[in-house]
Amino acid sequence: MRVLSGIQPSGRLHIGNYFGAMRQHIKMQEGNDCFYFIADFHALTSNPSPKEVADFTLDVAMSYLAMGLDPEKTVFWRQSDVPEVTELTWLLSCVTPMGLLHRCTSYKDKVAQGLTPNHGLFAYPVLQAADILIYKSNVVPVGADQKQHIEVTRDIAGYFNNTYGEVFVLPTDHIIESVAVVPGVDGRKMSKSYGNTIELFEPEKSIKNKIMKIVTDSTPVEAPKDPDKCNVFALLKLVASKEELKQWEDKYRKGGTGYGEAKKRLVEIIIEYFKPFRQKRAELEKNPDYVKETLAKGARRAKAIAQATLMEARRAVGLGDYYG
Ligand code: ADP
Ligand code: TRP
Repeated sequence: MRVLSGIQPSGRLHIGNYFGAMRQHIKMQEGNDCFYFIADFHALTSNPSPKEVADFTLDVAMSYLAMGLDPEKTVFWRQSDVPEVTELTWLLSCVTPMGLLHRCTSYKDKVAQGLTPNHGLFAYPVLQAADILIYKSNVVPVGADQKQHIEVTRDIAGYFNNTYGEVFVLPTDHIIESVAVVPGVDGRKMSKSYGNTIELFEPEKSIKNKIMKIVTDSTPVEAPKDPDKCNVFALLKLVASKEELKQWEDKYRKGGTGYGEAKKRLVEIIIEYFKPFRQKRAELEKNPDYVKETLAKGARRAKAIAQATLMEARRAVGLGDYYG
């Protein structure tokens, strides 16, 4: 089964990204034919600075490799290294009804958040459809926010196949069952747009400072506490062993333990949990050329497939082979 997903290089990855998406991507490497790429063309739709594009791309690559992406098993590349996908985007654009794009909620949401309503942002789902279709992907693991984009991809593939013959495989989505929403230090959903994240690889000291400032309610130390209403407990759930979690649950319900104590233990567990990944990441940082070469190798594997599908699509619409 071919599994494909894209990750936008739009900021430093945080533990919400890890437990909500990355961990699942990495697990799916076993027994599948996985294709993961860094969606730098997509990131341009929000007009980052050139330095941000380059830095975040390398950062995402190092983070995924450090967290266990195996470039021998998985094809891992940078979207813009296979520019064939933009040519396919054009062919797909010409069978995409405007109404389909007008119905996409992500465009409206992003404009409401203050992004410039440029054409790239509007056409974003067509580029995403090209990403998925050019590699003939069967399954696309994504967060629930991307479900509509996979439906749009199926619609576009259907329009194309009905008009020109069966070229594309219709993908199914795989909505990642994340361990619910990971809360940020202020209790809202952890998100880089809220500035409430704990990054995967930020300095340990800064992780500690952030955890100690996690917002909790004002229940006094002696009083019983509801673990399900506590942001510290929600994070403990992700990283503590079952046995330890049970102990914390009992302590919360019994009373007599302050949130400060739970926070201190959370710092230790989080640092321990991510230690091996942090070591791997430190090695990769010493060798950015290895990371770039890994992406280049992935791009060569991806390109062979992309070129073949693009050629099928060119022939189907009547453009045929290149003259030039
Ligand atoms: P951000 O909100 O920081 O901009 P993205 O929207 O780029 O993060 O998310 C990338 C992936 O990480 C998505 O699949 C999303 O579902 C997942 N994700 C992000 N934040 C969280 C969170 N707080 N809890 C669970 N999953 C998350
Ligand atoms: N739009 C996705 C996101 O913001 C990123 C993405 C781009 C993607 N192309 C894709 C995801 C293709 C899955 C398949 O998270």
